[in-house]
Amino acid sequence: MITVRTERPVDTPARESLLNLAYGAERHTKPSARVRKARKPAGGLSFVALERGKMLGTVRLWHVNAGRRRPALLLGPLAVHPEHRNRGIGSRLVQHALTEAARLGHGAVLLVGDAVYYGRFGFSAEKTQGLRLSGADPARVLAVELNAGALAGAHGAITASGERERALPSLRLTKPRVRLVPRAA
Ligand SMILES: CC(C)(COP(=O)(O)OP(=O)(O)OC[C@H]1O[C@@H](n2cnc3c(N)ncnc32)[C@H](O)[C@@H]1OP(=O)(O)O)[C@@H](O)C(=O)NCCC(=O)NCCS
Repeated sequence: MITVRTERPVDTPARESLLNLAYGAERHTKPSARVRKARKPAGGLSFVALERGKMLGTVRLWHVNAGRRRPALLLGPLAVHPEHRNRGIGSRLVQHALTEAARLGHGAVLLVGDAVYYGRFGFSAEKTQGLRLSGADPARVLAVELNAGALAGAHGAITASGERERALPSLRLTKPRVRLVPRAA
């Protein structure tokens, strides 16, 4: 049985392996990846799908501005283990993510993806006509409103607005200098 639940810190290594498997190294160079870079995902909006303890799917949502001062969420990456596709896991994850986002009061969700797949959840390019995401094909920039009108008149760049990740403490790579003090005779 597939279970969908909120991601926990202990899930990070399995999530990263799954994303590498699904997208390869390209995952870090996608236009949407640049918006997520060095940001924390939106609180309570990262989910995993599990079966018998094994992670089979992942999705996260991120805070963005859809044009100036227009808060929204960005969905992605969505990935399902290659050996477990077409079982409805991706759909479960997207639907769960949208339901939780609406419950938490968010107005709209954007993503970069295939309209043929995401159309079934209500995503389309209709509400993103005035929006652009640097490097992304405009036809793949899709949105769904959770509150009707949340993206009305939205225009401009989609930019990151989430909390920044804390930088890792820099490692000390140089040897500490030791001052040799001549011994007293
Ligand atoms: C896209 C993805 C998350 C779908 O997960 P999934 O668990 O197989 O999806 P579901 O079982 O809910 O839905 C399967 C349906 O989506 C369709 N589908 C899957 N990927 C699709 C795509 N890129 N474009 C159009 N349709 C797609 C399947 O053909 C199937 O159609 P059907 O319902 O008519 O049979 C998964 O294929 C994946 O991880 N792909 C690699 C990463 C990726 O490309 N993610 C972003 C997609 S834009």
